Order: sequence, then C-alpha cells, then structure tokens
Amino acid sequence: MKNVILKDKEFTLTYTSDDIQSDIDVLASKINHDLKNVTVPLFLSILNGSFMFTADLLKRIQFPCEVSFIKLASYQGTSSTGVVNELIGLQESIEGRTVIIIEDIVDTGHTLEKLYTELQKKNPAKIMIATLLYKPDSYKGSHKVDYVGKSIPNDFIVGYGLDYDGIGRNLPDIYTLARQL
Ligand code: IMP
Ligand code: MG
Repeated sequence: MKNVILKDKEFTLTYTSDDIQSDIDVLASKINHDLKNVTVPLFLSILNGSFMFTADLLKRIQFPCEVSFIKLASYQGTSSTGVVNELIGLQESIEGRTVIIIEDIVDTGHTLEKLYTELQKKNPAKIMIATLLYKPDSYKGSHKVDYVGKSIPNDFIVGYGLDYDGIGRNLPDIYTLARQL
C-alpha cells in the first residue's frame, strides 16, 4: 500500500517494513556489543507505541535480560504538587541495575525527561535509551539518546506501533502525513 487513509488524513509510505527490520538489526548488534557483560539488564518498553519495536528488538538480544512494559501517566495533583507523573506497571526493582528505555519515537523529549526523573528516584545504576525513531530538529531534552534506529524530519508519522488518534498502530510499515482530506 503506497497510501493509507486514517480518519480525515492521507498518509504516504516512507519507511518500509524491510527498512525498519534492517535498522533494528544494526541497533540490536550495537546493544549486543555494548551490554553483553552487564548482569541481566532490564528493558523497559513504553506503552502503547513501543510494542512492535520491543518485540522485534528483543528477539535479537543475545544476552540474558528482562523486559517489562510500563506507562507514564500524568495527572493533576494538589496546587502545590502541580502535574504529577506516575510510572504504571513497574514491578521489578531497578535499584543498582542497568535499565534500557525502549521508545517508539523521541520527538521533543518531554516524555523522556519525565521518565528519567521518575526512574532516577529508584536508584538504577544506569539509564539508557533505545528508540526506533528520533526527530533531532525537535529534540529539546538534556539526555543523550544512546541508540537510534533512524533520525527523521519533523513530520507526523504513523504505523508500526505509532498512531494517529488511536489508529494506525497495526500497520507493518511507516507512513508520513501527506494531506488533510
Ligand atoms: P515527545 O514527548 O515529544 O518526545 O513525544 C513522545 C511521544 O509523542 C511518543 O512516544 C509518541 O507517542 C508521540 N509522537 C511523537 N511524534 C509522533 C509522530 O510523528 N507520530 C505519532 N506519535 C508521535
Ligand atoms: Mg509513545
């Protein structure tokens, strides 16, 4: 499919499933090289967007590891606390461990900043980040993004886990917003 229509928008194919898989091959071999001597690192997959990337990445990891799926929820606390961020789903202790955040996409980096803050409170030995996609022109975060599948322009994309208003996550390829219908 060259183009897909999701709700009121048309998207065009930009990043095929084959492209994605070969980028994940490269990314996984870097992680295998860098982390092979670390004792049971914990991969933390950020739902919902990262589910497909996590499955494909983890199949290529060649050392003993754990994987857990978490969400970051933001809600309004009291007036003194303002917006509160809460990690949902983290059962494992991360104290003293190497943690690798798995993201589908890093855009402004706001999500990553909040995640770092919440994870750091739990005293991990090290936090690393692996993202399939990265928008360097948009990124304003303070942390280095350790592993990037592909750097992309500041366009809105869908597919392979990424959604437009809840839909499009099931597409095996990635599409870029082309026009409003
Ligand atoms: P950030 O906090 O701006 O880095 O954005 C992170 C989150 O925004 C990602 O985990 C995605 O859920 C979402 N996002 C950012 N860019 C896109 C996009 O192009 N398509 C779909 N979702 C996106
Ligand atoms: Mg996401």
